[in-house]
Amino acid sequence: MDHVTHLESLAHELEDGLNQASSFEDLEQLRITYLGRKGRLAQILDTLPSLPKEERPIVGQKGNEVKNRCNELFAQKMQQLVQAKEAAELAHFDASIPGRTPWRGSLHPDTLVMEEICSIFAKLGFRVAQGPEVEIDHYNFESLNMPPDHPARDMQDTLYITDSILLRTHTSPVQVRTMLATKPPLAIVVPGKVYRRDSDLTHTPMFHQIEGLMVGHDISMAHLRGILTAFVQAVFGAQTRVRFRQSFFPFTEPSAEVDISCFLCGGKGHAHGDVCRVCKGTGWVEILGCGMVDPAVFACVGYPEDVSGFAFGLGVERIAMLKYGIRDLRMFFENDLRFLSQF
Ligand code: PHE
Repeated sequence: MDHVTHLESLAHELEDGLNQASSFEDLEQLRITYLGRKGRLAQILDTLPSLPKEERPIVGQKGNEVKNRCNELFAQKMQQLVQAKEAAELAHFDASIPGRTPWRGSLHPDTLVMEEICSIFAKLGFRVAQGPEVEIDHYNFESLNMPPDHPARDMQDTLYITDSILLRTHTSPVQVRTMLATKPPLAIVVPGKVYRRDSDLTHTPMFHQIEGLMVGHDISMAHLRGILTAFVQAVFGAQTRVRFRQSFFPFTEPSAEVDISCFLCGGKGHAHGDVCRVCKGTGWVEILGCGMVDPAVFACVGYPEDVSGFAFGLGVERIAMLKYGIRDLRMFFENDLRFLSQF
């Protein structure tokens, strides 16, 4: 068989092969056999230099023709296979199935409560202030009227970093920082994380507080009571009553703990014939600590003697537990989506 006939039959053989090919692997195998570097076409063309001079251009030209034809056949077959694959995939595609709804995040109950409380106080004229969680002893204790060895330091199991650097045990140091940076009058609320070396059913080493501070001329306990009443009624309902119980904090004098009338039993102490589970029958629920800023704190920040003011501090998780009926403090920090997505 001469070279030209040989080349022509090669194209036909390839065409037959391609007709039978049913996969990308088959196709690749054929490509290697026919068009590969040591394939059938290459083998024929390799003999070109040994042919008589006048035959060479004819065989060479035929070789090119066949090569182009083969490439075309491959491309066609490739397209067929791709289309067949897509059609097979589409056969399993049900355009009527509803799409998957993307997951949506939700705000943590702590965040919700902090935002709600700060916005209530914003309407009452307070602005939001913040301070560092890693604090120095001076701001966390000393300038709040708690010198070294003051027994009140024991009330707050402190996490120390060095002798004088600690994780703040309350948001009250931000009172001091703000007063040092701002002239009176002022009114701030300070939401943030605080840390104590304490861990059991009702305590976690990290929790959230909101501090409040109002300073000006002739600010009295009546203002404190009015502001706190407006606040608890906004959170727990207009029927809520407040009660002040005398207490002690080194940085306020006088100091008080504030109870609200129980929002579950309405202050009766029992609900549906049972002792109320929220107030344990007392009719009252404790929600925060407060008092009139001690003159020693004002002296420490260089405020004039004729200013007065009040401060309060509340636990965010406690308010959230009361508000949403959450019974276990640990739920706040377990990051269980079944819990978190409810708010
Ligand atoms: N800082 C106090 C605490 O964490 C709470 C408080 C704040 C009390 C402001 C009075 C005034 O226990």
